[in-house]
Amino acid sequence: MKKQNKIDDKRETILKEKETEEDVILNMSLRPEKIKDFIGQKETIDNLKISLEAAKRRKEPLEHVLLSGPPGLGKTSLAHVIANEMGVSVIATSGPAIERAGDLIGILTNLSQGDILFIDEIHRLAKVVEEFLYPAMESYQIDFIIDKGPYAKTIKFNLKKFTLIGATTRAGFLTAPLRGRFGMFHHVDFYDTEDLFRIVTRSAKILNIPIDKEGALEIAKRSRGTPRVVNRLLRRVRDWSEVKSDGKITKDVAIKALKNHGVDEMGLDSIDRRVVQAMHSSYGGGPVGIEALASAMGEEPDTIVDIVEPFLLKIGFIKRTPRGRQLTEPAYRHLGLKKEAQKELF
Ligand SMILES: Nc1ncnc2c1ncn2[C@@H]1O[C@H](COP(=O)(O)OP(=O)(O)O)[C@@H](O)[C@H]1O
Ligand SMILES: [Mg+2]
Repeated sequence: MKKQNKIDDKRETILKEKETEEDVILNMSLRPEKIKDFIGQKETIDNLKISLEAAKRRKEPLEHVLLSGPPGLGKTSLAHVIANEMGVSVIATSGPAIERAGDLIGILTNLSQGDILFIDEIHRLAKVVEEFLYPAMESYQIDFIIDKGPYAKTIKFNLKKFTLIGATTRAGFLTAPLRGRFGMFHHVDFYDTEDLFRIVTRSAKILNIPIDKEGALEIAKRSRGTPRVVNRLLRRVRDWSEVKSDGKITKDVAIKALKNHGVDEMGLDSIDRRVVQAMHSSYGGGPVGIEALASAMGEEPDTIVDIVEPFLLKIGFIKRTPRGRQLTEPAYRHLGLKKEAQKELF
């Protein structure tokens, strides 16, 4: 089992890899700056355009915005796009990074009128921090408590009117009071092949990577509906084509390079396939709970819930049942699995 994991580790990099310095720099150059660069998510963008326009006309900051959806679909990018459109600065932090309410005081008191405070993974805010945020969001005030015991005093401090943009992969984890303080909710969904094709074409142009239409289409089709993945695959295919071919990305080059990285024609990565295989071999196709499945695979439940499951649900390879997740017919077919194991249960 250990050995198997080792081999897979290399291939799982596409989905799970930590961002290297190169990634960070490249991502910055690929990040859409303005709304016109942000491809897809038509409904969200149409609504946002109206809100932005209205806020600008009133010369008011935008209402607080909650962005939800699986990783890599553009939540952070959208926060920056909003800031650029409003012509304000973004101060970015994340739920787990703010340990104490005190950490927030400095951030909040430094915000200028209209600035955007971006809190990533906002569902992971500590409870005390979250409660401290309520009056800041609602009435742009915070309460300091000075001294202790009988001499304790609460001092109110007025903040500049700012916009909080929260991003989360688990909108369902947000408490009702926090959720209630947002004025706008936008869910980002997986992208279709056409949008991914446009994204990969744009990225190739920015990075000066020679690619033809069929090559771009092939990468787009295999990117799990995810812009971050399309950009990563583009770079992997470029590396492969420079070493093994003439540096130009064609359909044939894309197919060979992606196969080499363990990405199949549906865009499944080795970890996706391992999830399907584990559901099949250890649980007869399910239903199985995520915790049990994760522990059988030696994976973090969060990896499965945040990264693997949303896409498998989206393409209909698994379905949710009251008793857990269950494999579907297309998953069996795609992986060429036999259903015997499941029949034994009935
Ligand atoms: N709609 C989009 N159009 C073009 N590129 C996008 C879009 N959404 C995301 N990207 C690209 O994908 C990368 C990952 O997006 P990001 O905003 O970090 O996702 P999230 O915050 O949801 O995890 C970005 O660096 C950007 O290059
Ligand atoms: Mg992000």
